[in-house]
Parts: sequence; structure tokens; C-alpha cells
Amino acid sequence: MTSPEPTTTQPEPAEPTVTQLGLPDRVPLGGLPASVRIHEVGPRDGLQNEKATLPVAVKAEFIARLAAAGLRTIEVASFVHPKWVPQLADAEELFPQLAELPAKYPGLRLPVLVPNERGLDRALANGVGDIAVFASATESFARRNLNRGVAESLEMFAPVVRRATEAGVPVRSYVSMAFGDPWEGSVPIDQVVSVGCALLELGSTELSLGDTIGTGTPGQVAALLAAFADRGVGPERLAVHFHDTYGQALANTLAALQGGVRTVDASAGGLGGCPYAKSATGNLATEDLVWMLHGLGIETGVDLDALAATSAWLAGELGRPSPSRAVRALTG
Ligand code: HMG
Ligand code: MG
Repeated sequence: MTSPEPTTTQPEPAEPTVTQLGLPDRVPLGGLPASVRIHEVGPRDGLQNEKATLPVAVKAEFIARLAAAGLRTIEVASFVHPKWVPQLADAEELFPQLAELPAKYPGLRLPVLVPNERGLDRALANGVGDIAVFASATESFARRNLNRGVAESLEMFAPVVRRATEAGVPVRSYVSMAFGDPWEGSVPIDQVVSVGCALLELGSTELSLGDTIGTGTPGQVAALLAAFADRGVGPERLAVHFHDTYGQALANTLAALQGGVRTVDASAGGLGGCPYAKSATGNLATEDLVWMLHGLGIETGVDLDALAATSAWLAGELGRPSPSRAVRALTG
């Protein structure tokens, strides 16, 4: 029996569309965790760097949609000086609009950035349950971002961490410029470890290593984790916070996971930056991260389609396309 001649009228097989490819194949790689906790920073790190300040109702909807998409740690605001970051000056108006979320999504945490005692007072008055302080590994960025040097910033944080802990509010710490600094260039690893350990000694429960300007590469990540381990700080106390300026964020994340880190910061749609850090661009996009983690068979609890739809909607509100490749591929 001969097979029928192909005819020119037979329809060509359809090109696979992005929606047909809406999930990556799951192919695990050895030595990686079964699950990762994503610390979503879009409403804070993402929106602090936008030219436009979004209406508070849009921010509240953004956060509600992130929670509905399965994110369980969402950094929602900053209680910094309103003139320093006007985009987030409405934190007091935002919090009442988030009041129903914790009951709706058990386990949801909504941390905020707090630089000093004035910020802590504001956060506690709004019923905040988790805070983060943010230090710099370099003098140059400390002065630009906090109006004081590294040692003075640590002095400023000490009563914040103490009082928050006494109030039952856990404190995360960031160490920025952990992989490079736009004014100082390379940052000695000892300097990063020394500031990081000082923050942990103050009583922080978690330390997030910030590649504020996105210059780091995977070997640097492994070296920094090893240097912390030498000082007795294991990866279970560390998180990684990569900006994607040079396209290294996912590679750096994989290196961190291989080094035992289980908490990864990311920003929905890849928004982000720091108004006080020259050349800081968007954070690692949460969607790009989730695509990789799900492909590796790592659980995140995140519904990728719902998340990408949220970022596409927010891009419309901001009036520009999402910088995340996964968002563009999934929703384009
Ligand atoms: P300062 O001017 O030195 O403040 O700013 P001060 O202590 O001298 O106080 C001056 C006035 O500000 C006082 O008022 C204070 O009450 C008031 P006055 O008595 O003159 O009327 N004030 C405040 N008001 C409201 N809320 C407050 C507050 N603090 C003081 N919290 C300060 C010092 C730290 C406040 C300022 O430098 C600041 O707000 N910096 C924040 C910068 C920032 O938010 N940067 C972005 C976040 S960091 C980041 O993005 C990096 C990260 O993502 C990780 C990474 O990527 O690496 C986390
Ligand atoms: Mg950042």
C-alpha cells in the first residue's frame, strides 16, 4: 500500500503559538531544591523607579493580583522619607486597602522597607508585620541612598531592628552593591561579608545580597556564598536580589540555588531599579524566574499565566511594554 501523495491543499501544521508553549517542559537538574520561596519586590523596587506615580488603587490591585497569582511574600511599600522616593509616598493610604488580603491568602507576608526609627514608627502604626532595613557594602552608595556612611547607617538600623524584634516583627536586611558599585567599581568580598554579618548580628532574620547594578556573574555568586559560609553564615539565612542590567540575573540565580540558597527576590514584569544608584535597571523578572524554576521541576506556588497577565495589565497602566521576556512571550 502506498501512502497518498501530499496535496498542496492540505493545511500546513500550525506553527506552535506561545500560548501552546505556556509551560516549560519539566526536566530536573541534580542538586537543586524541591521548592523556592520567591520574595516579590515589584510593588516596591519596581514602582520606586518609575517616572509616573501610580494611583494608590492601582497599586492595591497590583498587589492583590500578585497574591491571587500565588506569591506569598510581597514587598509592598517603603516608609522612607517621602521626598526621597515620592513614588512610594502614599504607603499610609495603601495599607488600609490591603487589609483583607492576609485573611484571604493564609501565610501572606507584606514586608516594607524601613530606614530608621521614624520609618519604623510609621510602619508599626500601619500594622505592618515584616520590615526590611537596607545597607550598602560601599561608602559611596550609603551616602547617596541613606545620607550617611556605612557605619552610621548600621547605627541607624540598630534600634530599628531591636524595637521591631521586640514588637514581634521580623527584620530582613539588604546589603546593596554586593557585586559591584558604579562609583567604586569592584567591591572587595570581605567588605560585603563584613556589612552582611553586622546586619545579621543586629538581629536580622534574613540577609538579601543585592546586585544593585546587575554586574555580577555566577562565579562571583559562588565566591560570595563561600565567603559567608567561612564566616559561619549558611545559605539558609541568605537570599539573592539580582538586577538584570547585563542579562546575568538568571545565571546568577542558578549559581545561588546550586550554592544552597532557597529564597530569590524578583520583580513582576522585570520592573525596578534604584533612583540613587547610577545604572541600576530592572530586577530579575518574576515570570522569567518562574519559567526557569518550573522547567527545573522546582515548586514556587505561582500560577505563571495569572502572573504574566498581571504584568501585562500593569504595563498598560504604566504605558509601556513589560521588560520581561517571559511576559512578552506569554502575552504578546
Ligand atoms: P535624612 O535627610 O538624613 O533624614 O534622610 P534625617 O534623619 O536627617 O531627618 C530629616 C527629616 O526627615 C526629619 O524631619 C525627619 O523626621 C524626616 P524634620 O524633623 O526635619 O521635620 N524623616 C522622615 N520622614 C518620614 N519617614 C521617614 C523619615 N526619616 C526621616 N522614614 C533617610 C535619611 C534615610 C530618611 C533618607 O536618606 C531616605 O529616605 N532614603 C531612602 C532611599 C531609598 O528608599 N532608596 C531606595 C531603596 S534601596 C534599594 O532600592 C536597594 C534594594 O532594592 C537592594 C538592591 O537592589 O541592592 C533594597
Ligand atoms: Mg533592588
